[in-house]
Amino acid sequence: MIIALDGPAASGKGTLAKRIADHFGFHHLDTGLLYRAIARDVRAIDGSLDNVDDTSKAARNLDQSTLDDPTLRHPGLGNAASVVAQVPSVRAILLEFQLKFASQAPGAVLDGRDIGTIVCPEADVKLFIVADTKVRAERRFLELEKRGEAVTREQILETITERDKRDMERADSPMKPAADALLLDTTKLGIDETFDAAIELIKRKIGQPGAQRY
Ligand code: DC
Repeated sequence: MIIALDGPAASGKGTLAKRIADHFGFHHLDTGLLYRAIARDVRAIDGSLDNVDDTSKAARNLDQSTLDDPTLRHPGLGNAASVVAQVPSVRAILLEFQLKFASQAPGAVLDGRDIGTIVCPEADVKLFIVADTKVRAERRFLELEKRGEAVTREQILETITERDKRDMERADSPMKPAADALLLDTTKLGIDETFDAAIELIKRKIGQPGAQRY
């Protein structure tokens, strides 16, 4: 059983994916962390974020045990990850790991940009999470402010807009909803309402939880 969650930066898909995975007892992979970790590792060797050799080497040598490194969530790394994510060989290397993760029993929830289109086109449920850009920026700002990060609303809005544009316009695996994705607009929804709406969509798509498919 595979649930794919895609959507733009700060759409809340990571939090939602984790909750859905916990709810069903499934594994969860935040695939953005893979690109963030590669950006971190390329920076550590003073490499270039858009250099095929530097980024591919970092992708091949990625130590999966470092994916829980809290510094990966730093806002600057999100933008760097978006640059690294444009390199086709990096995406190809990461694909293998993601496919293996997705095949785990009893099920997996993966969130990212290309899960429903490229990584798991056969996913049982595909959700594409959207929210107004200003609302996403405000949510991200409040989250970072709470963590004591020195950022402004304007900076966050600018970074998110730039990142979404790059993620949507890249040639390889651009961010877009799969043809059979269910759209969930969270602009006016809180975290609990978003979770309830997502569970409702999943139930409608695959039937009642607890049925033989689990
Ligand atoms: O989900 P995130 O903000 O942590 O992702 C960081 C960047 O990684 C994002 O801007 C683009 C890239 N990414 C990607 O290209 N494909 C994915 N499946 C996940 C993330």
